[in-house]
Amino acid sequence: MPIKREYLERNRTLWTTVREIMGEEYEDYLRYITSPSYRPYIRANTLKIEPKALKERLERKGFVLEDTVLPYAFRVLRYPSEMGKTLEHFLGYFYVQDLASMLPAHILNPRPHSFVLDIAAAPGSKTTLLSALMENTGMVFANDASMDRVRALVNNVERMGCLNVVVSIYKGEKLVRFYREYYDYVLVDAPCSSVGTLHKNPEVALWWSPKDVRTYSRIQYRLLVAGWQMLKPGGRLVYSTCTITYEENENVVEQFLSDTDATLLPVPEIGIGEIEGRIPGTKRFYPHRTNTEGFFIALFEKRI
Ligand SMILES: C[S@@+](CC[C@H](N)C(=O)[O-])C[C@H]1O[C@@H](n2cnc3c(N)ncnc32)[C@H](O)[C@@H]1O
Repeated sequence: MPIKREYLERNRTLWTTVREIMGEEYEDYLRYITSPSYRPYIRANTLKIEPKALKERLERKGFVLEDTVLPYAFRVLRYPSEMGKTLEHFLGYFYVQDLASMLPAHILNPRPHSFVLDIAAAPGSKTTLLSALMENTGMVFANDASMDRVRALVNNVERMGCLNVVVSIYKGEKLVRFYREYYDYVLVDAPCSSVGTLHKNPEVALWWSPKDVRTYSRIQYRLLVAGWQMLKPGGRLVYSTCTITYEENENVVEQFLSDTDATLLPVPEIGIGEIEGRIPGTKRFYPHRTNTEGFFIALFEKRI
């Protein structure tokens, strides 16, 4: 069910914030998130099945799938039964995941046999993609602070057949004492105020406040710095959120760049309508432009 305009309007501060960010595009954005135009995406689990074989199998069952810019991702135009209740889902042949949410791992692009830290990993959509991109070699250290969410992470890691994943429950900031300059790649998919998911999670409009944004931005900064300290020289780090406020994205990146010697690399062009963030090289994904969740991505490299 898409969010209703009146529902969003009830939270005046959220309404005003989103309008400021979207500027002239505000009406287009609003039309998109309040209409049923959003279609879910699935990601074929290449550890278990070829994307083409999955597509054929699901289409035989009445699904209508559209190719995307990623070879293992499909947009689901029609699904005759609940996706999470299909045999193929149970067998770990696919993960229901927004296209934008696949991009942080896709852009990090870890080599097989490398060591990867996913500092805020639950429920594991990106961990399981990282594992698949590494062809079940090396190690993905999948950490999350929430015990409840780690249960889902473990289920997903098992369902998807990821044998190279180690799961940990810890505050990401505190891992630094064990793993200084240890990882070849780090993903900081930070907790955030989730404005980019409004069309899927209307309840965000009930609790969202500027105070949450300030709280999240402090956690985001701490996780980013911790992730950076655990990255080896020469390694790469992706920072991502599913929100669109500047405080949780560009402002965090700006502070981070002024406090460290990190090099900001341009996020490679994906070609789905993403736009440059306020800091050149970072990317913003807006639902009405990209047919995805709202997202932000920045890419960094550590000098040798
Ligand atoms: C955006 S979600 C992560 C989604 C996940 N990367 C995925 O793709 O499935 C953010 C996560 O950060 C976790 N988190 C919050 N504070 C944290 C902290 N201090 N250290 C580690 N994880 C934290 C939350 O429990 C939540 O699971």
